[in-house]
Amino acid sequence: MPQAWKLPHLAKGLLTWVPPLAAWRARRGEHAAPARYCYAVWLRHLVLLAGHGFRPAGARVAELGPGQSLGVGLAALLCGAASYTGLDLVAHAARQDLAATLEALAALLARGEPIPDEREFPLLRPRLDGYAFPDGLVDRSRIAARTAAVQEGLVAYHAPWRLDDLAPGSLDLVLSQAVLQSVDDPGGAYRAMRAWLRPGGLGSHVLDLGAAGTAPWWNGHWAYTERQWRVVRGRRPYLLNRAPLGEHLALAARAGLEVVRVVREAAPGALPAERLAAPFRGLDDAERRTRRATVVLRRPA
Ligand SMILES: C[S@@+](CC[C@H](N)C(=O)[O-])C[C@H]1O[C@@H](n2cnc3c(N)ncnc32)[C@H](O)[C@@H]1O
Repeated sequence: MPQAWKLPHLAKGLLTWVPPLAAWRARRGEHAAPARYCYAVWLRHLVLLAGHGFRPAGARVAELGPGQSLGVGLAALLCGAASYTGLDLVAHAARQDLAATLEALAALLARGEPIPDEREFPLLRPRLDGYAFPDGLVDRSRIAARTAAVQEGLVAYHAPWRLDDLAPGSLDLVLSQAVLQSVDDPGGAYRAMRAWLRPGGLGSHVLDLGAAGTAPWWNGHWAYTERQWRVVRGRRPYLLNRAPLGEHLALAARAGLEVVRVVREAAPGALPAERLAAPFRGLDDAERRTRRATVVLRRPA
């Protein structure tokens, strides 16, 4: 018998099998993410990656799982990227009107707005040492010209994505924001990203390893047995793969990606190890405590 706290989450999973409710879920909430969120995500990855030699001008960029945040790609293009490809499982962004987001992002960049920090987005990662506008990385005098180029259509979008959506070795950067914890086949995703990157190309990924609303504790998703978890997931197109960070790093390495930077973050509000399900009870301390992580990967040159 599952513990009482699991019951509403199991019931919610069962409800995903009710067709009208599933249709309602699929229709709701497909609004573009705020421009300031997209601006913060892109510039934070950019500043982090600059420390690993990345420059936006002329870069061929893709994003796994942009969700409603295609503005991240628009910001990359405005900063000089040559192309941007959004690769999602679900076409969250298919019906978005990007004109207003593009205009708002162009205004933020043109005036060199500081990167939104922890006060505005307390849970957003990566965290930076400073949030000043990265003047050395972005040519602000070119924003108007770039806006016109982006309007002419530099954004490509595939949902669901396939390996052959992008040519092998055709990317300088692939990034993701709170996505890899939800991908059903993370090993396949790392292999695809390895194939798309040119030698020396970079990956920049924020992983949100929390329970995503399936428990009152951030690590409560690790308390469900495999069978219980299948019920919680129900018919949702994705939820959580429940892989701890170490498993992601091992899969990335196995795919042929070099792990060049890992920032692990612990968080309060966790269930003790003895209350987790069997495969997670034995995790070592560092694995069990990692709530969020930022990972930079590189395809070896
Ligand atoms: C929490 S949302 C994050 C969206 C966006 N990156 C953001 O920061 O707002 C998770 C995203 O992962 C996507 N996703 C789930 N499984 C995926 C897969 N196998 N391949 C690509 N994207 C996937 C979902 O469709 C969704 O867009």
